[in-house]
Amino acid sequence: SPSDPELVARARAAKEKLGDKVFVLGHHYQRDEVIQFADVTGDSFKLARDAAARPEAEYIVFCGVHFMAESADILTSDDQKVVLPDLAAGCSMADMATAEQVAECWDVLTEAGIAEQVVPVSYMNSSADIKAFTGKHGGTICTSSNARKALEWAFEQGEKVLFLPDQHLGRNTAVRDMGMSLEDCVLYNPHKPNGGLTAEQLRDAKMILWRGHCSVHGRFSLESVEDVRARIPGVNVLVHPECKHEVVAAADYVGSTEYIIKALEAAPAGSKWAIGTELNLVRRLANRFAPEGKEIVFLDKTVCFCSTMNRIDLPHLVWTLESLAEGNLVNRIEVDKETEAFAKLALERMLALP
Ligand code: 13P
Ligand code: SF4
Repeated sequence: SPSDPELVARARAAKEKLGDKVFVLGHHYQRDEVIQFADVTGDSFKLARDAAARPEAEYIVFCGVHFMAESADILTSDDQKVVLPDLAAGCSMADMATAEQVAECWDVLTEAGIAEQVVPVSYMNSSADIKAFTGKHGGTICTSSNARKALEWAFEQGEKVLFLPDQHLGRNTAVRDMGMSLEDCVLYNPHKPNGGLTAEQLRDAKMILWRGHCSVHGRFSLESVEDVRARIPGVNVLVHPECKHEVVAAADYVGSTEYIIKALEAAPAGSKWAIGTELNLVRRLANRFAPEGKEIVFLDKTVCFCSTMNRIDLPHLVWTLESLAEGNLVNRIEVDKETEAFAKLALERMLALP
């Protein structure tokens, strides 16, 4: 059960025993029962930075998903061990771009004669292989909190961007934040020959968007925005940029999980908010801000938890911490050296963005 007192006591005891040897990072989508043990919480950008700023911790326990733990391993020193409490905590979006597919895409761009003009920008939500591809081809990583800066940087390096794997973040940033048009973007479908595009379409495009999406955020619809506006007059609609373009275009505010929290902290008492992001976070914020008279509702009741984020539960955390406290290194996430070198290049370009 969520806060089984016996498990809470065991997690506390194991963490105490480990002391400074362990540092626990928690993404905002984690369950309450897990987030209570996080030394820091954050969006994926903040957690990447925080992981890199803990050289004294032997173990980094990452309560989040696989690509976040990989990034932490890439950014920390070799003798630090990054641990993911459940190895099945992946991300369906990250799985939508494999190394083979992306290599094939690069061949298509080369054949169309445009590869030299293209700078890859990969969303943090991608495997270490994709990050390495990005580093190798002169590109950068971005998160939802710095996608605009990353794209601006990329367009200083080249004329076109290959954005992967989240088509929505790519399109929303290009069109909503940077004033490009929908016609500047084409969709590359890795399951079709040549991505389903002609060489001419590729040559005309500024943004080549990979056909990937988040299965959680992809479910918010324009209808859910219209419904909540009709139901709650004066409501502020605040959504994550992984939502579809039509949802983002109809929203009042758009930003990363950290942005969403800051916006609600700054909101006046009596204001009303409909939030389009993962349910653990929205529930926690609704409970946290209710006493201040801020009404917070979930944008669409048919959308639910991120099932892979939710795999990290209190029993997995207890098992992880107790194993480490007994000297058993479990569930280590370790990126091989060659991949790490190129992936690090791409991640460091992101960390150096203005
Ligand atoms: P943030 O970087 O906004 O926390 O987003 C991470 C994520 O996986 C969203 O689905
Ligand atoms: Fe991946 Fe979506 Fe879950 Fe984020 S919410 S970890 S993008 S599946």
